[in-house]
Amino acid sequence: MTEIDVRAATERDLDAVESLEEQAFTHDRSSRSSLRRFLFSRSCEFLVASLGERIAGYALVLFRAGAAVARLYSIAIDARVGRRGIGRRLLGVCEAVAVERGCASLRLEVRPDNERAIALYLSAGYQSFGRHEAYYADGAPALRLQKPLWRSAAALPGDPPHFHQSKPFTSGPACIIMVLQWAGWHLDPGGDDELLLRKEMSRAEPASASEADRSLALAEVLRRRGLDPLVHLAEAKASPSERRLNLGHGPHEKGLRVMSSNLDEAELKRICDGHGLVLTLATRHFLDRGRRKRWVLVHRLEGGFVVFNDPLFAERPVDNTPSGRNRMLSLELFRRITLRGRTGLSVAIIVRKGSAS
Ligand SMILES: CC(C)(COP(=O)(O)OP(=O)(O)OC[C@H]1O[C@@H](n2cnc3c(N)ncnc32)[C@H](O)[C@@H]1OP(=O)(O)O)[C@@H](O)C(=O)NCCC(=O)NCCS
Repeated sequence: MTEIDVRAATERDLDAVESLEEQAFTHDRSSRSSLRRFLFSRSCEFLVASLGERIAGYALVLFRAGAAVARLYSIAIDARVGRRGIGRRLLGVCEAVAVERGCASLRLEVRPDNERAIALYLSAGYQSFGRHEAYYADGAPALRLQKPLWRSAAALPGDPPHFHQSKPFTSGPACIIMVLQWAGWHLDPGGDDELLLRKEMSRAEPASASEADRSLALAEVLRRRGLDPLVHLAEAKASPSERRLNLGHGPHEKGLRVMSSNLDEAELKRICDGHGLVLTLATRHFLDRGRRKRWVLVHRLEGGFVVFNDPLFAERPVDNTPSGRNRMLSLELFRRITLRGRTGLSVAIIVRKGSAS
């Protein structure tokens, strides 16, 4: 089967989405004008799944300012390509998008007689938590389901401290500060290390720096402080001939160790078990409406969950949003938010204690 691509919807998809609505729902369809409104709303993610040129499905996820709960407003797959995993894939992306917006759970309503959809949701980890009577236009009730997307892990001795980034562009410096403190450096909490580190990173980047260059600049800043980072850079979706990133001799000349391969799960576990840390770039890998990707700091694997510090969120939860320290995300979702860009550039910078001076 042609590969399924999930991306943000555009105006050109509206015809296809409208016909999906007509095909999939007999009641409570979204009108063309509301679909168009969703397209331009900042409190909504409008996604389409395409199979080559063809739109095979769509989904709408709604957000409320300050709320930690996202809502799956609609999902529909073209019946001609049903039961081929497209619905499950699209649902997974909806969850990743909710996670990227800092939501702790995804909720939805479903008709009690919609067996296909209920089977999909239950198998994807959703649980029933209530019911709305006379919810749909024909008077039918709705089952309410939800899935927790995040968990918080208890802090353990040896976990890196948390540092909350004070500017939208300082996740890298914030992660460096966490690494340095974990490695035993004493930094002045009221000092301006964050901005100084940002400047240092910018100076280490070549003009017109690519994402790979910026990652190397971060590694370079760590190396200058006596850590010996190992950088994994890989373009997951590039063709085999493009797979080797052309980084020139720069990293080698600076004494940086770089591998053009993905960090696999077994390796990630080995590093965490060996008390190493992994800095990685998290983002919505196909959507970026002005929201920046950011660095996060992985320090543990627990069961199938990755535990990491997220500098975008404060250490203590505010208004029910997850805490920035010890956020837990399933490996599957974590992979989704750390594989990014059209070519799926993934970055992992490994640091271990002992190499710090
Ligand atoms: C529900 C829907 C989105 C599923 O999309 P899909 O691409 O067919 O689903 P997938 O192929 O990813 O299947 C995922 C799971 O859904 C369930 N499922 C999908 N089609 C099913 C069918 N015909 N019979 C029983 N279960 C079915 C199964 O649990 C399936 O997992 P499995 O194949 O491993 O057993 C799709 O059927 C649809 O668009 N329905 C109409 C619109 C709708 O009801 N939307 C939900 C509103 S709440």
